[in-house]
Amino acid sequence: MSKHDQVLVGLDIGTSKIACIVAEAGPDGKVDVIGIGTHPSRGLRKGVVVNIESTVESIRLAVEEAELMAGVDIQSVFTGIAGSHIRGYNSHGVVATKNNEVGREDVDRVIDAARAMNIPADQKILHILPQEYIIDNQDGIREPIGMSGVRLEAKVHVVTGAVSSAQNIIKCCNRCDLDVSDMVLEQVASAEAVLMQDEKDMGVVLIDIGGGTTDVAIFLNGSIRHTHVIPIGGDHLTNDLVIGLRTSAREADQLKRKYGACMTSLVSPEDQIEIPSVGGRSPRPMPRQVMAQILEPRVEEMFEMIRDELQRSGYQELVAAGMVLTGGSSLLEGMVELAEDVFDMPVRLGRPVGVGGLADVVSSPMYATGVGLILYGHRYRQSAQPIKSTEHNIFARVWTRMRSWFGDTS
Ligand SMILES: Nc1ncnc2c1ncn2[C@@H]1O[C@H](COP(=O)(O)OP(=O)(O)OP(=O)(O)O)[C@@H](O)[C@H]1O
Ligand SMILES: [Mg+2]
Repeated sequence: MSKHDQVLVGLDIGTSKIACIVAEAGPDGKVDVIGIGTHPSRGLRKGVVVNIESTVESIRLAVEEAELMAGVDIQSVFTGIAGSHIRGYNSHGVVATKNNEVGREDVDRVIDAARAMNIPADQKILHILPQEYIIDNQDGIREPIGMSGVRLEAKVHVVTGAVSSAQNIIKCCNRCDLDVSDMVLEQVASAEAVLMQDEKDMGVVLIDIGGGTTDVAIFLNGSIRHTHVIPIGGDHLTNDLVIGLRTSAREADQLKRKYGACMTSLVSPEDQIEIPSVGGRSPRPMPRQVMAQILEPRVEEMFEMIRDELQRSGYQELVAAGMVLTGGSSLLEGMVELAEDVFDMPVRLGRPVGVGGLADVVSSPMYATGVGLILYGHRYRQSAQPIKSTEHNIFARVWTRMRSWFGDTS
C-alpha cells in the first residue's frame, strides 16, 4: 500500500490500454478517485501478457502519470486477470455441523469440500465465490453463521486461471516496484463498478467488450453464477476496417471511435467521411454507411457467440434484468440497439459508478475494470497481502485470503 494506507490503486492491464486509478477511502466509507494515469498497452494479446518488457514500460508510464496527478507514491495495486485460459465452474459441498449450529469452522469446512474438484495441472483456483448456503434443505441462505441445523451445504462459483499468465502479470508489476495486493477476474471487477444490487438480485448478464477480449459474467439471486472469456474484441472490428477501408490500424481505430456504428439503419445515407490513405495518397471520401456495413456483421457475429454461451449456461431465460454492456467497445454507436435485437432482452450501457472525487474522469465504460478494482479492493483489502512472483505457489495463499470473505455481510 502507499504511505497513506487509505489509498487504493486499481491497475487495469488491458489489451488496448493500461489504466492506473488512484482513490482514497474516507472514514465515512466513501471512495474518492484522486488520480488517473493511462497509457496505450503494448505487450498483451487477447488479454494475456506476451511481452514482459513492453508491458512493464506501459505500466510504468501509466503509474507515473497517476502518481503525479494524485500526489502519492504507489507501492501496491489491485490488478485484473483475463484471457481464454480462464475457466468458471459451479461446485458444491456438504458437511454435518459440529454443534447443531453453523459456526465459522463449519463454513470453512463446507467451502473446502466445495473446492475439492479436478482442476488441470497448469490451472489454479483464482476465486471461490459463494452463491448460497443450504441448511437442512432450506435454500437461499446468504448468512449461515449462527443458524441452527445439522446439514450444511454450500454452492460456489470457482474461477481458475493459467498459473503462467498470472505469474507474468505479477512479474510485470514487481518489475515496476509494485506489489500485487490481489488479482481479480476482470468481469468480477467490472461488475463491482457498473451493476446495481437489484440487477444482480433479479438476474443480469454483464458483457465487458474490450480491445482483445469480451468478458461475460452472469448474476442471479445476488451472486455470480457463470463466467466466460471470449478472445474477440474491438481490435477485430478495427482489423476489419483496415482491410475494408484500406487504411492503417491507427487511422482505422480513430475512424471507428469517431464515426463507427454497428447498425446501418442508424446512419444517414448522406453522411460522408474522409478516409486517410496509406503511402502518401490523398484522402478519399466515403459514405459513413460503408463503415457500418463492415462493422454490423462482425458485431452481430460477436453477439451470436455470446448468445450461444448464454444458451450453454442455462441462465438465458432467468436474467430478468437483462444485459449490461461495458468496456471501451460498448461505446460504438448502435451497440445497445443491436444487442437488444440479437438477445431480445433489455440492454443498457454500464458506466462505472460508486466513486466520488474525480468520478467524471473515470466515467467512461473503458474504466469499468479499473474503478471496479478499487471498489473490490476497498471491500476486501483487510484480507489482501502482497503476492510476489518469486513465490513458488502464488495461489497457495489465495485460499487463506478467501476464507475471511465467507460470512461477509456484503
Ligand atoms: N467511442 C468508441 N467507439 C468504438 N470503439 C471504441 C470507442 N472507444 C474505444 N473503443 C474501442 O474499445 C477498445 C478498448 O476498450 P477497453 O479500453 O475496454 O479495452 P482493454 O481493457 O484495454 O482490453 P481488454 O479488456 O480486451 O484486455 C478498443 O478496441 C477501442 O477501439
Ligand atoms: Mg478490459
